[in-house]
Amino acid sequence: MSKTFYITTPIYYVNDKPHVGTGLTTLIADAVSRFQRAQGKTVFFLTGTDENAPKVAAAAQKAGKDPQAFVDEMASVFERYWQTLNIRYDIFMRTTRTDHKRAVQRVFQQLLAKGDVYAGEYEGWYCISCETFWTGAKVEEERLCLNAECRKPLEHRKEHSYFLRLSAYADRLRDYIQANPSFIEPETRRNEVLSFIAEGLQDVAISRLEANWGTPVPGEDNMVIYVWFDALINYLTATGWGENGVADPILWPPDLQLMGKDILPRFHATIWPATLMALELPLPKQLFGHGWWLFKGEKISKSKTPGGLADPLLIVRELSADAQCEERFAVDALRYYMLREMPTQSDTNFSVEALEARYNADLANDLGNLLHRTLSMTHRYLEGQVTNAELEPEIAAVFQKAVRETAAAFHETQFPAGLQTAWEIIRAVNHYYDSRAPWNLAKQGDLAGVGQTLYAGLEASRILSIILSPVMPSVCEAIAGQLNLPYETRWSEAEKLNGLPVGHALNQPTPVFPRLQPKAEAPAAPEKKPPQEVKPMDEMISIDEFKKIKIRVARVTAAEPHPNANKLLKLTVSLGDETRTIVAGIAESHTPDQLVGRQVLILANLQPATLRGVVSEGMLLAADIDGKAILLSPETEVPDGTGVR
Ligand code: MSP
Repeated sequence: MSKTFYITTPIYYVNDKPHVGTGLTTLIADAVSRFQRAQGKTVFFLTGTDENAPKVAAAAQKAGKDPQAFVDEMASVFERYWQTLNIRYDIFMRTTRTDHKRAVQRVFQQLLAKGDVYAGEYEGWYCISCETFWTGAKVEEERLCLNAECRKPLEHRKEHSYFLRLSAYADRLRDYIQANPSFIEPETRRNEVLSFIAEGLQDVAISRLEANWGTPVPGEDNMVIYVWFDALINYLTATGWGENGVADPILWPPDLQLMGKDILPRFHATIWPATLMALELPLPKQLFGHGWWLFKGEKISKSKTPGGLADPLLIVRELSADAQCEERFAVDALRYYMLREMPTQSDTNFSVEALEARYNADLANDLGNLLHRTLSMTHRYLEGQVTNAELEPEIAAVFQKAVRETAAAFHETQFPAGLQTAWEIIRAVNHYYDSRAPWNLAKQGDLAGVGQTLYAGLEASRILSIILSPVMPSVCEAIAGQLNLPYETRWSEAEKLNGLPVGHALNQPTPVFPRLQPKAEAPAAPEKKPPQEVKPMDEMISIDEFKKIKIRVARVTAAEPHPNANKLLKLTVSLGDETRTIVAGIAESHTPDQLVGRQVLILANLQPATLRGVVSEGMLLAADIDGKAILLSPETEVPDGTGVR
């Protein structure tokens, strides 16, 4: 049997619920797992909870609960969050499991017998919040946690203790990291770890005295194993190592261990590999440390970030209500946003506004609109059937390149880059539609041309439903459903072209991502409504006056910044039988890319006017929210030039 792809997230402390920070690591792991399965690999995806920490026992006490009952409850809260976010793990590891505790004791005893663990006396400072011992002059002076995000007062500890002989592994670890650059990714993280090691690795106290919650130290009363030493070993005990002390070659070593940058140098890149070296076990193939989500410049955390801002389930519920989209699609929108903007090298602000902007631009306008307009036109012009199953070679080449490059980026856990390349497919089809104008071909009776053009959109939708499925599994299933195809996740099917045969009947389109309308500002205080004034007749217009106004549907075929004004865009629009230039003050709310291919409404019989040197032949209609333009479009595709009553 071939080696299973073994992937892990950290196991999370259960003193609080999940938030978008813990959600990020878990989501990346889910997307990688789905991608690896799509590549034909068998995957073993571990996540779980870190339950033996003193701060967990303290949280139970604060809640007035028995610690075991408390961790049981919290573990199921985590599982519920992950299920709602559509995270498909294979094992949910819990460190209060007796087989885990027995295995940790086994590691302890083996290392004690070898001399890698030894008994001594610990005197120093401990941060209960970070579950970390700190030493050095700065600590002696300040007695505050050295973790810049924490800075809480430290507790003084002087106790009989066991130590892991980490110092003995410093050179081996440094040499290993230098000889195996892909062991720690991305490169910035590798450099952080190397400088941490260069500062000097000291032996680590791995036991605590007088604690009654945790894994007991074998042969000692009132002593438990330090929670980090205990927790790291879960990755090994989950594979069944505890049974006989032999690593299962199908699972071991892990292929990818994901975590935030905060728990990489001090724990996963030193204590963990040193423990494995001491056990003479192969090291994980890769440790990947991502950056943080920030809120107002600070790391997002349950304790510091206000209310619902960091709770992924509340964010999903609100998006689903505001956009009127199904909750499972709102889950996918959050998954897309988190992976598209995932902090890899540097930290990134997390904001609901940025999520909404991605939702409207990338999901409603780009992905949703591509599927919707393609299916609408296929039903309107071709009775909802595939009439041509051949792609133009240039389009086929763009598709294949995007599929290849997306796979390469996903392989490297670079979701932002991978999703950007996947979007090349959408952009290519939009430009192709603009140049071929299938609506005009239909008018001219060239149905073969229409069929050939729309085939690009159909194939694009089929391919996207496969390659986006690691990121947005529910939406991809819905896209496949609208194409009347079984839900397919095998990547090899996206590499093939012409997957929709002639004669294949398509289903009717239903928008998966209805456009999100901006929220109206809530009034500051309940205000009395002023009595409705009756407008004097001279502010009204008669029906005959209205009839003079000609509003028509136009399609934007090109868009570019105005050469002489930052706030203006210069658009080329098609009215079917006529092309016009329109200057519009929408540069602050729209990029040219977002507009090309869209249908908009224009005032068509406005006298031409020269705006900063460019003649504008009409005016774009938009709703006005505090000066921000929200473009108006017909509810479904209609022929270009259609009049509005
Ligand atoms: N229990 C330890 C891990 C033991 S693994 C053997 C722990 N747990 S934790 O509950 O604090 O979760 C840590 C994980 O959540 C880390 O990967 C951490 O980086 C991630 N995040 C927590 N807040 C975060 C952000 N604001 N942004 C991104 N990820 C962050 O540490």
